[in-house]
Amino acid sequence: MDADLGAKAASDGELRGLVDAFATFSNATRRLEGEYAALRAQVERLTDELEEKNRRLAASLERERELEAAALRQSRLAAMGETAAMLAHEVRNPLGAMELFTGLLVQDLRDRPEALRLARQVAGGIADLNHLVTNLLEFTRARRAVDVANALVDCRTTAETALDYARHLIDASGIVVDRDVPPGDCTARGDAALLRPALLNLMRNAVQAMPTGGTLTVAVRREERAVAVTVADTGPGIPAEVRETIFTPFFTTRSKGTGLGLTVVRELVTALGGEVRVATARGGGAAFTVRLAAA
Ligand SMILES: Nc1ncnc2c1ncn2[C@@H]1O[C@H](COP(=O)(O)OP(=O)(O)OP(=O)(O)O)[C@@H](O)[C@H]1O
Ligand SMILES: [Mg+2]
Repeated sequence: MDADLGAKAASDGELRGLVDAFATFSNATRRLEGEYAALRAQVERLTDELEEKNRRLAASLERERELEAAALRQSRLAAMGETAAMLAHEVRNPLGAMELFTGLLVQDLRDRPEALRLARQVAGGIADLNHLVTNLLEFTRARRAVDVANALVDCRTTAETALDYARHLIDASGIVVDRDVPPGDCTARGDAALLRPALLNLMRNAVQAMPTGGTLTVAVRREERAVAVTVADTGPGIPAEVRETIFTPFFTTRSKGTGLGLTVVRELVTALGGEVRVATARGGGAAFTVRLAAA
């Protein structure tokens, strides 16, 4: 019996030992599982971070490539601009002479209607070419820094000069001019050499918007801090959805247009520290207003 008891005690001891060993093993396993789960979470976090960093790297590489391409495009455009300006300059002198001579020819042919019609066509073609070439030149000129800090412009006189320049277009279209220029000082910060071509472009557009005649209004207003020159027409006006687009280069709805006119207007006016806005004129036409800081 004692032997039996002894054997039982021994096997109880072994069993406890086994239970203890199993418990230790289970604890170790649990601990290991916990550590493994923590490690897995860390690996997942690091993988996510790596993926995010890779994404950012790819995006910044892409952006760098885009910037490089844009810089290349820009330098090509600048080179093209320089060439265009050089050509424009060379072409403008003979064009000026041709414009003058066809003007004289038109006067001489007053009594010969058929020849007069042809001469007017030639004169119109020359005027269109001159307009294009001048815009190209103005475009590059406005881009150069203009020092207008001390320059002054009489907006009334400049508006009148621009009207004189547009006279042949206005007369040919049977358009009535309505001048709305009250007396008083209309001096602004600016430069007539830049304001005049800007206004001329606006007048040209206004005339082109009224092929069957209408009224071209030129108004000069002295405001509290600015002088505003408005060129308005009685044409079809400009749909709201293209009001901003019309100022972008090469946007045109005219079959013979280049879409540079309003881009040049904005460049010139901005170079003068001013702004140009478009609104609907009374009667539904377009009204463009150039504002320059009052002197
Ligand atoms: N007074 C206006 N009335 C109606 N639409 C206008 C007027 N002025 C400009 N636009 C619209 O804006 C477009 C762009 O004008 P912009 O002067 O820039 O170019 P363009 O007259 O078409 O060509 P370009 O002036 O280079 O010969 C015109 O094609 C026309 O659709
Ligand atoms: Mg135009």
